Amino acid sequence: MKMLRSVKGMHDIVDDEIAGWHKVEDAYRQHVERYGYREVRTPVLEPLELFVRGIGEATDIVEKEMYSFEDKGGDFLALRPEGTASAIRAYVQHSIAAKEGQTKWYYIAPMFRRERPAKGRYRQFHQAGAELIGVAEPTADAEIIDMAVSYMSHLGLKGIGVKLNTLGGPESRGRFREALVSFFQGRSDRLCTDCQRRLSTNPLRILDCKAPTCIEVAQGAPGGHELLSQDDRTHFDSLRRLLDRWGTPYEVAPSMVRGLDYYTRTIFEVQVDSEALGTKGAILGGGRYDNLVAELGGKPTPTIGYAFGIERLLLVLGEAAVPPQTHLIFVTGVGDGGAQRAFDVARSLRGNGLRAEVAYVEGSLRSQLKRADKFGATFVVIAGAEEAARGCVMLRDMSTGEQEEVSMDGLAARLRESQ
Ligand code: HAM
Repeated sequence: MKMLRSVKGMHDIVDDEIAGWHKVEDAYRQHVERYGYREVRTPVLEPLELFVRGIGEATDIVEKEMYSFEDKGGDFLALRPEGTASAIRAYVQHSIAAKEGQTKWYYIAPMFRRERPAKGRYRQFHQAGAELIGVAEPTADAEIIDMAVSYMSHLGLKGIGVKLNTLGGPESRGRFREALVSFFQGRSDRLCTDCQRRLSTNPLRILDCKAPTCIEVAQGAPGGHELLSQDDRTHFDSLRRLLDRWGTPYEVAPSMVRGLDYYTRTIFEVQVDSEALGTKGAILGGGRYDNLVAELGGKPTPTIGYAFGIERLLLVLGEAAVPPQTHLIFVTGVGDGGAQRAFDVARSLRGNGLRAEVAYVEGSLRSQLKRADKFGATFVVIAGAEEAARGCVMLRDMSTGEQEEVSMDGLAARLRESQ
């Protein structure tokens, strides 16, 4: 029969890979919970309209990359391409604002975008993110950027750099938009067909286009910073002062716009010098999106957040993502009632927090030792009838082949000592 394979761009996580996932996920939970973030879990399927309204109709994600369909009941649904719109939908739906003045949520979840698969770019990928809802102050911007960067450096990531920019509030952004339209209008014949369309739908996106001619034309485009309002400028300067104070590595990237329409004021990306990501792309992206809560039916609420791609982080971490293994203890019984004794010992070791494996099939000691070796066991516990009568077992160190008799009462402590 023909073998079936997973969908293109969607991957199983198998074998030793899972250890790296656990490491980055566990470290992430621990890290952000220290800052007061709590987990939120939302459905994988959402109404299509959530992303059209939230991310913006004229974005690549919504125009080209979303998995959307009409279900059998005639509802238009989409597999979520990102977590922010879903989190804010949940925030509004559950009237969280009525319960607390500020909300800190994090998530670790699969996302779906029908992009061209490549190294570090998948159609199902996983994001870990954080959203801080209800705080307008630039201290929130600085803290959340610093939280993301310190998480990555705790994991051992080298060469972290933050690209930082501000799009300004609605007024500054409107001025920027107008300036871009008048700049690109005279040069539209040199823009790609997508960007010619973007000129009327979403001119900021032109700055994000990867087509060589568009990059060339955009080089002379006006920068948004000269058009910022005093408030927007003060916000950005205060944020920068805090990052400077903490030594958080960043550089201002005035032409960065990001690919989602909900952003206002601060936007940022984390990039890492790494060959593992190939043609690269950011590992993390985020920013302020002060209008989204209102656009999704809530009261105007300032908000900031980020998300990073777990696959990309793991690619860059490479070997550093693999946590050191704790000992695996293989337990085997010999003589009458051996199997039963082996399971008794393994239960007791697991109860003491140790990793223990038992042979389900019986066999000679020689074959059991071979099996232990295959499992990668560092110690083998041999539960023989004679030793059992004295309340003892034999303990074999697989690296040296040495054996010693150990009392059952002291076994867990003896093994823990040699971890
Ligand atoms: P984003 O920049 O679209 O932002 O995605 C964030 C991160 O997700 C990227 O930096 C990348 O690491 C990862 N990512 C995106 N697409 C793919 C893909 N096809 N394959 C692998 N990894 C991918 C957002 O999604 C915003 N919701 C972030 C945010 C949260 N802004 C405010 N709050």
